[in-house]
Amino acid sequence: TGFVTLDQGFVNTASTTSAITYIDGDQGILRYRGYPIEQLAEKSTFLEVSYLLMNGELPTAAQLQDFADKIRVHTLLQEEMRTFFSSFPRNAHPMSVLSSAVTALSTFYQDALDPLDSEQVDISAIRLMAKLPTIAAYTYKKSIGHPLPYPDNSLDYVENFLRLTFGLPTVQYHVDPKVAKILDMLFILHADHEQNCSTSSVRLVGSSQANLFASISAGIGALSGPLHGGANAAVLEMLEQIRKDGGDVNSFVTRVKNKEKGVKLMGFGHRVYKNYDPRAAIVKKAAQEMLSTLDKPDPLLEIAFKLEEIALSDEYFISRKLYPNVDFYTGLIYKAMGFPTDMFTVLFAIGRLPGWIAQYREMMVDPANKIGRPRQIYTGSPVRDFVPVEQR
Ligand code: CMC
Repeated sequence: TGFVTLDQGFVNTASTTSAITYIDGDQGILRYRGYPIEQLAEKSTFLEVSYLLMNGELPTAAQLQDFADKIRVHTLLQEEMRTFFSSFPRNAHPMSVLSSAVTALSTFYQDALDPLDSEQVDISAIRLMAKLPTIAAYTYKKSIGHPLPYPDNSLDYVENFLRLTFGLPTVQYHVDPKVAKILDMLFILHADHEQNCSTSSVRLVGSSQANLFASISAGIGALSGPLHGGANAAVLEMLEQIRKDGGDVNSFVTRVKNKEKGVKLMGFGHRVYKNYDPRAAIVKKAAQEMLSTLDKPDPLLEIAFKLEEIALSDEYFISRKLYPNVDFYTGLIYKAMGFPTDMFTVLFAIGRLPGWIAQYREMMVDPANKIGRPRQIYTGSPVRDFVPVEQR
């Protein structure tokens, strides 16, 4: 009832107030809780940023230690949960396994599912932060037929994840500190991005007072799409395709400009940024740093540089204010680290988790929170009388 406005894709409609993340899309500014992303990426750690997002303030040394310790003791999955990974086909997409496993977690922790009990939300949040990297690593291990290792809680968050993913029972695994540092920084860059598609999904599901696991699982589903988190994998597939086709970047850009069906410049464009995505600038530098350590240069990096250069000087992209987004260079880094393409979006999910949790928690304590229930403009048939099947 009343006046209903149509805003397909929520281009101009704010769904909530929020004190977590600030974006100025025209100026290319991103801040978590007031802190510029550039400073956090350079000086902070992923766990510190996670604490900041969830609690509003940077932790003291003691608070950070306590937070890290709490997460550390929860990295193990229930033994039944481990068998779960054998039930999926080996070629299952890791994002599908990830969201299923997160939903499955709720079946093990039924004593802490009340979204209105902040202590229960807190312990669920810690469990999720601790177990998502374990689950992510297991989706990969199963896909290559390897045994599932147990976490090693003497390692830190990212080291533990790298060892679970790439370690083998047969050889001692040494974490490359450079890889760990860059991955930690990429998680920081992905940690929150206000009301994007997956975060809005988490909030919408949570607004019905669904539990944290169910809400995060929905967020993972939303993130999997190629217009959102799935773009990091789609970029790599696009670069591979251009390379296979002979590396002719100009002719690919022409196909994009001609709007050939299904041909987009993946990793370009953003609903909010109408200027360079500040995360992309940081990722580009990290890509150069990471790829310079390879024994032989990755030809895809050259293709990506060329694509960016051509697009940024082309009228089609200039007039539409299309710039590289966070996903344009991340895939090249993940590839250089040894991750297969279908794991890229899983890495995005690990990074985004603290943001999803922070937004869910913010919503749950907001007295103005209401169930999310958009309206519609009906375009169907006017009223008509039912016709029995034998008369149709
Ligand atoms: N390549 C070619 N043309 C594009 C692209 C692109 N990547 N992005 C937008 N356009 C064109 C679009 O065709 C439209 O042209 P016209 O005005 O002639 O119809 C114009 O630019 C405006 O685009 P839009 O589709 O109205 O923009 P949107 O805000 O609805 O979509 C987007 C934003 C990110 C979904 C879109 O830019 C896109 O599909 N990009 C490629 C996928 C991608 O990289 N996604 C990652 C986003 S950032 C991180 C994340 O969320 O995961």
